[in-house]
Amino acid sequence: MDIKDKSLILTGACGGIGSEIARVLADAGAHLILVGRNISKLRALQLSLSEPSTHQALVADLNTQQGLDTIHHSCSQWQADGRAIHGLINIAGSNRFSSLLERKSDSIRDEIHLNLTVPILLSQQALHWMARPGLIVNIGSTFSAIGYPGYTTYCASKAGLHRFSEALDRELDGTGIRVLYLAPRATDTTLNSAIVTELNHHLGNQIDDPRWVANQLLLSLRNETPVRWLGWPEKLWVRVNQILPAAVAGAIRKQSATIRQFLNKAEVL
Ligand SMILES: NC(=O)c1ccc[n+]([C@@H]2O[C@H](COP(=O)([O-])OP(=O)(O)OC[C@H]3O[C@@H](n4cnc5c(N)ncnc54)[C@H](OP(=O)(O)O)[C@@H]3O)[C@@H](O)[C@H]2O)c1
Repeated sequence: MDIKDKSLILTGACGGIGSEIARVLADAGAHLILVGRNISKLRALQLSLSEPSTHQALVADLNTQQGLDTIHHSCSQWQADGRAIHGLINIAGSNRFSSLLERKSDSIRDEIHLNLTVPILLSQQALHWMARPGLIVNIGSTFSAIGYPGYTTYCASKAGLHRFSEALDRELDGTGIRVLYLAPRATDTTLNSAIVTELNHHLGNQIDDPRWVANQLLLSLRNETPVRWLGWPEKLWVRVNQILPAAVAGAIRKQSATIRQFLNKAEVL
């Protein structure tokens, strides 16, 4: 899709990856509807983008029905008023580095709701108000394809999002709406606590710059690439885990004492 002068709605717009995506898309000439929970942060982001008056802020807590209804009613009204919305980019997400045993049930429910149920419900809404041709992009994670200790529920939610994206893209074949999935690896944002960042350094894991991830998103949009896994060697491990999961389990087993040590530190804090 050529995104110049197209209207795109972004959840998680003020986050580490979301704000860079907003900058890259605004520089490319898109008109953005920025969704977040804090109006001051949204306004500050809007003012920092190219052509601020072509963008707008929408406050919505996506873990509430009211937040989801706000998006549906606003987008439906814009569509009725003749404003075409060509894309929905589901970026909002959360995780917690913790063993399953230590997790509170509410935190598990909220994480799975935000990472999986919310993009499903927003995609369903978008089928009512999105222009054709239109794009839905879901931001996943390498952990959607590789089960990793300390991230059991995050892996589950992102794996669900990957399969949902694939299934909906196939269901919508020929309708003018494509569904894309982009899976970053570790990225330098506050989603990752100091302990997780220390663990990544300890294990020698690469950490990407969010601006680079945002540029990859722009490429996915322009080329309408259905699925992309970012980062080497992670994209290789994704393939190996499909055909030789025991090899990946063996590699993770070698890290398990270190992961356990960092999990213990995270759980004490
Ligand atoms: N950072 C990484 O290492 C990494 C790696 C792979 C994939 N990802 C994925 O990339 C996406 C963005 O992550 P990030 O690193 O940018 O994280 P981040 O900086 O923590 O941003 C998360 C965003 O989600 C929004 N959000 C959280 N709860 C919300 C709720 N209830 N309602 C509405 N919005 C809510 C936040 O909105 P507010 O501004 O209102 O707080 C924030 O904008 C996520 O889906 C994440 O899973 C991240």
